[in-house]
Amino acid sequence: MSEWSPESWQRKVAAQQATYPDAAKVARVTEEMTRLPPLVTSWEIEALRGELARAAQGGAFLLQGGDCAESFDDCRSDSIAAKLKILLQMSLVLVHGTRRQVIRVGRIAGQYAKPRSTDTETRGDVTLPAYRGDLVNREAFTVEDRTPDPELMLRGYERAGLTLNFIRALTDGGFADLHHPEYWDISFAKDARYAVEYGKIVDSIRESISFISAVTGLDAAILKRVDVYTSHEGLALLYEQVQTRKVPRRAGWYNLSTHMPWVGMRTVQLDGAHVEYHRGIRNPLGIKIGPAMTPEWLTALLDALDPDREPGRITLIHRLGAGKVEAHLPGLIETVRKTGRTVLWVSDPMHGNTEALPNGYKTRRFDNILAELQQCFEVHTRCGSALGGVHFEMTGEDVTECMGGARGLVEADLERAYRSRVDPRLNYEQALEMAMAIARHLRSQG
Ligand code: PEP
Ligand code: CO
Repeated sequence: MSEWSPESWQRKVAAQQATYPDAAKVARVTEEMTRLPPLVTSWEIEALRGELARAAQGGAFLLQGGDCAESFDDCRSDSIAAKLKILLQMSLVLVHGTRRQVIRVGRIAGQYAKPRSTDTETRGDVTLPAYRGDLVNREAFTVEDRTPDPELMLRGYERAGLTLNFIRALTDGGFADLHHPEYWDISFAKDARYAVEYGKIVDSIRESISFISAVTGLDAAILKRVDVYTSHEGLALLYEQVQTRKVPRRAGWYNLSTHMPWVGMRTVQLDGAHVEYHRGIRNPLGIKIGPAMTPEWLTALLDALDPDREPGRITLIHRLGAGKVEAHLPGLIETVRKTGRTVLWVSDPMHGNTEALPNGYKTRRFDNILAELQQCFEVHTRCGSALGGVHFEMTGEDVTECMGGARGLVEADLERAYRSRVDPRLNYEQALEMAMAIARHLRSQG
């Protein structure tokens, strides 16, 4: 392979990139961004890689989740706190269910760019560039809004910084403290059927903490803070490139805009720019794999992205669709087994279960999402492998984007609070209920 550098991807075909009309402005913005401080550190990235390695060996479980696409408008305290809260609550339920450490990774603080199925959108006789996320252009259907603007990368970077700063303050300052049940309370979901079950889980965890404190005499201070890592799709390669740096006393290059970038299914071509960029950074990598993935392709991807076979380097996130797991997953598992590698297997039960309704809404059904997860757990176990994590599109708010769940949301409910600009997310209650269903499933497997 030819020599890698943070820019070497520019020699390859780069799918899903913005076409900026003003090259001088791109140069000005990227130059400014390279002078800004990073969002994360190499220590954190290495710590996460170590935890993912443990998960790949069965010693921990990954919970990765957040918006399909973050929006600049949602960079607000209430929205960020709600996202953090659901992530923490789900992790609590999963700790209880899996009896393992749960690694929390948000799709947050940088998940601003989206792949699109077409480069342009046509309404009537007007054709404009497709909306590619707030990092690239604006959603309103005007020439001005849809023209990619490099300044938005800078705005996105700043918002990612603000978001992460608030997350760090909250997780360090008592928001995650199990001694304060008021923070863990399930507010507007109080009436829901599973409030009682959730209450029991919280009580049981609190009792365990008191027990450990009493028996060991240790202050349970370590239980007052939790780690939350960030991830986003490594899609807009200029944005990734400018934050790719060398750090003192460590070999190699780190992408310091996020802990764990992932390569999306639409940009995972072996000879493409995204694989080229990601092969050269030290961060742990997610790779999304769909039904189109072949054994040869997967084997070559692993060779390209993890030539040194480092523990924790690769997380394979399969997103197949309920009903397709049986046909595709055993082959993927067998392919990886033949390479002799240990990877972390994660299920994204969202992206293979998207459907468009006659009323125009894009939705996903709770039951299909859960069914895919259950199939994945079963197939992994049967094949002598293990599902070590889950990847969701979800929000901490009371939106109506996915159907089903304890409240039985139906098609007619969707218009009440459909806010996603891209894919439908589990709402607060659906996300918590999903975590409980997984925990129940795992407990029943022993
Ligand atoms: C996503 O995670 O939002 C996404 C676009 O997924 P995939 O690449 O798996 O389609
Ligand atoms: Co999505």
